Amino acid sequence: MEIIRTVEEMKARARALRSDGSVVGFVPTMGSLHEGHLSLVRMAGELSDSVVVSIFVNPTQFGPNEDLDRYPHDLERDVALLEDAGAAIVFAPEASDIYPRGYATVVHVQRLGEKLCGAFRPGHFDGVCSVVAKLFEIVRPNLAVFGQKDGQQAAILERMVADLEMDVRIIRGPTVREPDGLALSSRNNYLSDEERAEAPVLYASLEHARSLYDSGETDAAKVLGAVRAMIESKPHARVQYISAVDWKSLDDVTELRAGTMLVLAVFFGKTRLIDNLVLGG
Ligand code: PAJ
Repeated sequence: MEIIRTVEEMKARARALRSDGSVVGFVPTMGSLHEGHLSLVRMAGELSDSVVVSIFVNPTQFGPNEDLDRYPHDLERDVALLEDAGAAIVFAPEASDIYPRGYATVVHVQRLGEKLCGAFRPGHFDGVCSVVAKLFEIVRPNLAVFGQKDGQQAAILERMVADLEMDVRIIRGPTVREPDGLALSSRNNYLSDEERAEAPVLYASLEHARSLYDSGETDAAKVLGAVRAMIESKPHARVQYISAVDWKSLDDVTELRAGTMLVLAVFFGKTRLIDNLVLGG
């Protein structure tokens, strides 16, 4: 496995791979890797000849009161995990190389980027889209794999790629969970023991919603109310939003149907967790 630390070298290497006729798969990450990230790397490996994984804690997607400064870094550990997962290249650039003096461009996806998490984290998805667009240009992948864990992020990036005619196929990988249902996230490490014990209610409430839908309930407001009640029964939980949207367009839905994504953001103490579930598979 190669480790590449500069944009210039990554561009040269990526263009050489493509001119060989290799299918290049790409998994962008911010490091602090867990089984969720690694599942995407393995999925990319099944679909391509060479997998490039980027590790870059992108400052422009963090708000002023968010956890940029305490976001965990351990490149050595991440590199060892990626070697095992079968990555060919790890691209770990410096912020000054991605955002040199004078950098001024933002990619903004209207509507989809302004709701759900976007309403509470202004500028967050502009940061995500801008860095992913730039990483696509550097790595020139044939396909890129993103997690359904961040369902809104995946939908926004699919919109961006379609709107800008970017030559990359976006693939969503399923959410990897702890045995008790909690979606894997580097932020789970911030939870206290009590908060950690309550956090599985997020997936339990989404599964409850699915069982209501499976038994014929399609009134979104009713089902979302049941989800909220379950979560609010936990003393440390504070709901930020719970919504029902189409998993691709992110348009709100009032009648649940296959392809509806139930999506939520909930604080446990200071830690904000997100999760979602798509009805009908
Ligand atoms: P990061 O949070 O490091 O996540 C990298 C990728 O791993 C994303 O596609 C995310 O959806 C996926 N992922 C995270 N937890 C997962 C889980 N439990 N199961 C499956 N996939 C999971 O998302 C970002 O970084 C950044 O916004 C990025 C796209 C790299 C742009 O900076």
